[in-house]
Amino acid sequence: MRIRKMVLPVAGLGTRVLPATKVIPKEMLPLVDKPTLQYIVEAAIDAGIEEIIFVTSRSKRSIEDHFDAFPEMEQALERKGKLKELEQLRRIHEMATYVTVRQVEPRGLGHAILCAKEAVGNEPFAVNLGDNLVDASTPIWPRMMELHEQYGSSVLALFACEPEQISAYGIVDAEAVGGDTVKVKGLVEKPSPQAAPSNLAVDGFYIMTPDIFEILEKTPPSRRGEIEITDALATQARAGRCYGLRFAGIRYDTGTPLGLLTSSIALALQREEIAPDLYAYMRQVLGK
Ligand code: UTP
Repeated sequence: MRIRKMVLPVAGLGTRVLPATKVIPKEMLPLVDKPTLQYIVEAAIDAGIEEIIFVTSRSKRSIEDHFDAFPEMEQALERKGKLKELEQLRRIHEMATYVTVRQVEPRGLGHAILCAKEAVGNEPFAVNLGDNLVDASTPIWPRMMELHEQYGSSVLALFACEPEQISAYGIVDAEAVGGDTVKVKGLVEKPSPQAAPSNLAVDGFYIMTPDIFEILEKTPPSRRGEIEITDALATQARAGRCYGLRFAGIRYDTGTPLGLLTSSIALALQREEIAPDLYAYMRQVLGK
């Protein structure tokens, strides 16, 4: 079945990027001159997604505002003849249908996704974490959607991580089925490197079948008190209903200060009006 809806859980506290995230949502922090979330939404639209479902919280009103129309600004740009900027601004609210649901308390990623149950309905859907994106040169969604078509199951994006990173991610127990595809047999949240079943980590991109909601409703909180999406996906995996894409493209994780900075630099270096001056500045700073 075609994937038409994407859930964007953006209700987390973003404590790793404090104090920047005290009043500005982590997902709204800019990479060069565009919020992280806008890159994510644009990639979704390019892949054929029609409806974006934000799972937000009370401190994240700026996300709704960013994806809404801003008539005064549009009129001002029109008066000033800034037509390129006007076009950019209009595209943001015209490119998709936006729905917002609230997560009253940050009770974990699984709980955030469950909050979107009514908005999603009974159809498969995509999920993109609000701080994970891939470079436009290596789009991830077309291949994720192909695998969902082929297997009719949930699909996880996986990447090979270094041993010292294993305990920061959900790690899969998987069996190769050929090419870039694996069948996921199990998942463990943040294991020690010794206990990890592999080095394949779950990235922030998922396609989920709608039975995940019923599974989430029965999933108890984990030891850290959160409803973990990993636990619900492990239930699907044990039933043979979860596949994985080994993704080798360029990923950006903006959930940490270093990730935010490196992602911004990488994206700036792709901009021909910025890159030469940025290179010159970096050479000057490095004394080379
Ligand atoms: P993170 O694991 O990065 O959590 O969530 P966080 O709270 O945002 O950040 P830290 O760990 O405190 O620095 C990944 C994505 O899931 C969302 C976040 O907003 C982020 O986009 N999320 C997380 C929710 O929507 N609700 C939650 O309860 C937890």
